[in-house]
Amino acid sequence: MDQTVAKRRAGEAAARWVTSGMHIGLGTGSTTAFAIQALGARVRAEGLAIAGVPTSSAAAVLARAEGIPLCDLNDLRGGLDLALDGADEVDPQFNLIKGRGAAHTREKIVAQQARRFVVLIDPTKQVDQLGTRMPVPVEVLPMAAAAVMRAIEQLGGRPAIRMGVRKDGPVVTDQGLWVIDARFEGLHDPASLNHELLMLPGVLDHGLFIGMATDVVVGGPEGVEVLQHR
Ligand code: A5P
Repeated sequence: MDQTVAKRRAGEAAARWVTSGMHIGLGTGSTTAFAIQALGARVRAEGLAIAGVPTSSAAAVLARAEGIPLCDLNDLRGGLDLALDGADEVDPQFNLIKGRGAAHTREKIVAQQARRFVVLIDPTKQVDQLGTRMPVPVEVLPMAAAAVMRAIEQLGGRPAIRMGVRKDGPVVTDQGLWVIDARFEGLHDPASLNHELLMLPGVLDHGLFIGMATDVVVGGPEGVEVLQHR
């Protein structure tokens, strides 16, 4: 099945979960973009009254173009009703690797503030074990990059600074920091790695999301499958 069609199905299905009055976390990436576009269509057609907290400058640009009102997390005393976001890998326990788009730090803050964190994927993102295909992105202060890379090697990973595609030099995040992609060839204990990476001086955050997702919406040939955490 076409991966883009699956992403669209997941995104559009999740957008139907949203009701007027909700504050929504707006994730980053190609799958969530379909959800943001579908929400924009509902804002225009139905007068759906929502406010979104974007997880990146990319999500903010898209949401504004779609006419979705934005708000600041600092102004929301009650947190978010729902956060919608994609993922690069999802394991059977709903642990995730995120950050292909270098937005994982804000994505984690927004997800943590939501009563439901709904992950939108196509079936290729489902894995038995995290880290078999994708690296773990680690956002670092540039002056700490070499030290963090040495520490990642000691943790058994192969680190590489993520380089820009249409920009010379390292990718620079929305926070003005760099991303180190750490390959582990399969994570045997993602919860421990979560803490070990966070302990490294110079690390802002990384792309392991442990025990955060409440729902996973998988787009597929027969429509969507909704998995809920027990
Ligand atoms: C952004 O930094 C990422 O966490 C994305 O949410 C993730 O890579 C999923 O992206 P796609 O929906 O484009 O596959």
